Amino acid sequence: MRLDRRKFLGLAGVTGMGAAIAGFSAAPAWATPKFTGNPFTLGVASGDPLPNGVVLWTRLAPEPLAADGRGGMPDRVIPVHWEVAEDERFGRVVARGVERAAPELGHSVHAEVGRLRPGREYFYRFRAGREISPVGRTRTAPEAWAGNDGLRFAFASCQNLPAGFYTAYRHMVQEDLDLVVFLGDYIYEGDAQGTIGRGHLPNAEVFSLADYRVRHANYRSDADLQAAHAAFPWLMTWDDHEVENNYADEISEDPAQTPEAFLRRRAAAYQAYYEHLPLRRAAFPQGPDMRLYRRVRYGRLAEFSVLDGRQYRSDQCDATTQPCDPADPSRTMLGEEQERWLLDGLARSRSTWNVIAQQTVIAQNDTDPGPGKQLSTDNWNGYQAARQRLFDGVLERGVDNFVVITGDAHRSMVADLKQNFDDPSSRTVGAEFLGTSISSGGDGADLDATCRNWLAANPHVKFANARRGYVRCSLSPDEFRTDYRVVQYVTTKDSPIKTQASFVVENGRPGAQVDSIQ
Ligand SMILES: [Fe+2]
Repeated sequence: MRLDRRKFLGLAGVTGMGAAIAGFSAAPAWATPKFTGNPFTLGVASGDPLPNGVVLWTRLAPEPLAADGRGGMPDRVIPVHWEVAEDERFGRVVARGVERAAPELGHSVHAEVGRLRPGREYFYRFRAGREISPVGRTRTAPEAWAGNDGLRFAFASCQNLPAGFYTAYRHMVQEDLDLVVFLGDYIYEGDAQGTIGRGHLPNAEVFSLADYRVRHANYRSDADLQAAHAAFPWLMTWDDHEVENNYADEISEDPAQTPEAFLRRRAAAYQAYYEHLPLRRAAFPQGPDMRLYRRVRYGRLAEFSVLDGRQYRSDQCDATTQPCDPADPSRTMLGEEQERWLLDGLARSRSTWNVIAQQTVIAQNDTDPGPGKQLSTDNWNGYQAARQRLFDGVLERGVDNFVVITGDAHRSMVADLKQNFDDPSSRTVGAEFLGTSISSGGDGADLDATCRNWLAANPHVKFANARRGYVRCSLSPDEFRTDYRVVQYVTTKDSPIKTQASFVVENGRPGAQVDSIQ
């Protein structure tokens, strides 16, 4: 049974500071810190669902934008109590516990809750001292052998804060979803201030841990983003801007940053990312390294392979500064270990839908409408041998129903994935659904020059659009349906939303079929 969303959202709005603390046990005196203000300014979140649990997140920050990155918190550990209930009034609490919010992790809290029931909706909240957090809602994954229940999720990416309002999230929270998948560019690292009255903080490109913390808090102060985290569990991966534009492994795009200096920056950025998102301890950063790629299953219906296409990639080819051959087989997008993990997992999968949740466009997307070819070097078109290894691996292993969901391009696109993109009669390996941005790039347009070129130069591309929004996916054993939900503008508030196009992948028939395009 699903909850009435408006009712839940209404209650969440009033369950902040000063709400009744009934339901929590009385804390010992040592655990009654006093805050300079509401410590739950950044909201709550949950993520990485399992059949028996989720990870719950919050961060104590009464002054979230404090320039020292400490969020207005004292330099000591604060116990934070959490509880999970079957009802939003916490009458039927089924799990509770306490986590240590430590200054060295920005007083962030990651509570891994287990022993919940599969495929169920739950409510959660935190308490620190006398302060109670807003209420979040989450949902566990179905049990491992479950096969027939549908799955509904939305995916999104690229939420440049000064570029536009997060109206898409305001609409997303009204949807009936089990999960949100975020595909990268959760923050941007630059100094842009934009023109809509919410510029980047700090007002400079970020490099240090303190500055990355303030930047995350800057983004997370958005009420619509907080509401979307509070409404659904999220499954996260990153792209480049969580650290720096177009970085590749230890290589900065700026030649003035040595690999040593850049890895220090990467360590700060990864730590702030971990501190602000509902990630499991398996993703705990170790200096400049963080294991983000992982697999999440929804019964027998769907399996998400969540990729990290940034941390291990070979450097981008660049005609002047870094000449190289995109088809060089020694070039890697995922790194050897992740590539093997991906293909081994796909070979073992018993899921109907094998979904690859990842950063950058994987279909060939030539932007030269003439006989020549103009290909991006920052996406899989700059890693053609690695792409071919993946596609050939999928075909050789007989992987069923291969679907790739992608961010980064600030445009929507639907494409068939071909064993040989230059031969339309070659085998179709799967389908790619590229989602547009939440706000990056500003208002956008139905068709810009790049969209027109994609459609003109690539016979496997079936749809392109440059408005903002998200993609809603509805999975059953028979079909994988996508609805491209787009807003008309983001530089002013309150745009309505509509479904611009819908596609279906049928079980056993690789590639995307058009259902409707407006
Ligand atoms: Fe982006």
